[in-house]
Amino acid sequence: MHAFIPAEESSSFLVDELSRAGISARINEPFVLADTLPDPAILAFAHQTLPNVMLITEASINGWADHIIAAMLAALSDDQPWRLHLWPAYGEGKAGQHRCELILTALTERLKKRRRSLLRSWQKDSDITQSGEALVQAVLTGPDAGFVSATPITQELRAILSNHIAGYIPHAEDKAAPSRAFAKVIEAELRLGCQIERGQTCVDLGASPGSWSYVAIQRGAHVTAIDRSPLRDDLMRSPRLKFIQADAFKFKPETPVDWLICDIIAAPQRSIDLLLEWLREKQMRRFIVTLKFKGTDEYHLMDQLKQEAPPLCADFRLTRLCANKNEVTAFGLTAE
Ligand SMILES: C[S@@+](CC[C@H](N)C(=O)[O-])C[C@H]1O[C@@H](n2cnc3c(N)ncnc32)[C@H](O)[C@@H]1O
Repeated sequence: MHAFIPAEESSSFLVDELSRAGISARINEPFVLADTLPDPAILAFAHQTLPNVMLITEASINGWADHIIAAMLAALSDDQPWRLHLWPAYGEGKAGQHRCELILTALTERLKKRRRSLLRSWQKDSDITQSGEALVQAVLTGPDAGFVSATPITQELRAILSNHIAGYIPHAEDKAAPSRAFAKVIEAELRLGCQIERGQTCVDLGASPGSWSYVAIQRGAHVTAIDRSPLRDDLMRSPRLKFIQADAFKFKPETPVDWLICDIIAAPQRSIDLLLEWLREKQMRRFIVTLKFKGTDEYHLMDQLKQEAPPLCADFRLTRLCANKNEVTAFGLTAE
């Protein structure tokens, strides 16, 4: 069995999404459970996946540590680097957090005594996941119950495995940005493990008032911003910004750019067609594109993107970001 953590208020959309992939799933708050993983493993409405999850009923702290070690021994190869996400999904107070800390201490003690090779391959420092790593997840749904999952982070699974606990990324804050929409770019970069960098070229479609361009300019990128309306005055004066007042759907760069970032308000099918066209024509190396929905009856349109985009990409993601409203963001790296 596999457990999924839905994006905020998206459990039923996730069940529908799995159903469209031929997978029957059920809601078991705060999770969605299913017997099969989707192929391709892309789920717009899941923030995290616990593959091959074991349901645990366990009152003792040492017992929890033993269950985690057993799951690791079953799933990890020798010396495989691994990362642990251990968190409580019950109660509002600190009791769950405290229980997790006790389990962590017990786990560390047991590894020191009995499994020093596992202790050595434990990755604790950076939250950027390296290829070849495994993800070990233990979530307490109550003091004596929860789920444990251990899985290698394979190429096939990486779009549904987050390197953030429960797939949650807090909304970035920057009062100097023209709008809070800038948080979408930051979150997509964090999920992808790759960010806009100094000297890179960037096309921002539907750019006004300019918070996505603002992020790119702050990073030292050169931005071509296209919108019907100008961006905030200070951005319009930036030597790193070229503004073109035009229809963003008709714009194409003269040479391929490092980043396509696109937050146009448009029907989702138009944004899907735009992204696929840019991908087929190899106009960009990386991309972040928002799909904006009205209501809930057009989510099936994303199925086309799931089929057609991955073969054109080295890494393709589709996620309702924590910073998204009724939106889903497509982001990734194009094929070389
Ligand atoms: C949500 S706003 C973009 C916000 C921007 N990413 C930011 O963070 O400041 C959407 C923008 O798309 C622009 N837009 C919609 N249709 C467009 C089109 N066909 N061509 C150019 N811009 C368009 C709107 O003018 C609007 O400024």
